[in-house]
Amino acid sequence: MHQQNAEIEKLRACAARAATHAYSPYSQFPVGAAVLAGNGAIYSACNVENASFSLTQCAERSALAAAIADGVQPGDLIRLLIYTPGNQVHAPCGACRQVMQELMSTDSEVVSCCDTDELKTWSQSDYLPDPFTPESLNR
Ligand code: THU
Repeated sequence: MHQQNAEIEKLRACAARAATHAYSPYSQFPVGAAVLAGNGAIYSACNVENASFSLTQCAERSALAAAIADGVQPGDLIRLLIYTPGNQVHAPCGACRQVMQELMSTDSEVVSCCDTDELKTWSQSDYLPDPFTPESLNR
């Protein structure tokens, strides 16, 4: 438990730092995310918006992409933490849930936090029941 708290604090620091780099002039809604790989490496990212709104990149998917780009194997990501400044914990968007489900380990968890002590935690089956998966393509 102690180790898990230390891990979450480390992820929170990385995600909060990334959130300070968010490019969110349209929404004014900065987000930071940090994902932990099986070997202990942490990858963090922020949201990056665009004047062509639909091109906005979410923090979570960018952090996952950074891990994959560094050579982390799909399925070897064990915890992803989302940080949003303020006093409300926010849930990840549906698109990010789909990508987390495919790239993270089956027993992984997603944690969301803000500037209070509140944490919200989801397992894969909590955040995306009955998912569309790679196996869905094997018809
Ligand atoms: N956003 C994220 O980065 N992650 C989410 O899970 C939800 C939304 C970003 C996208 C956009 O830049 C801003 O938050 C408002 O939607």
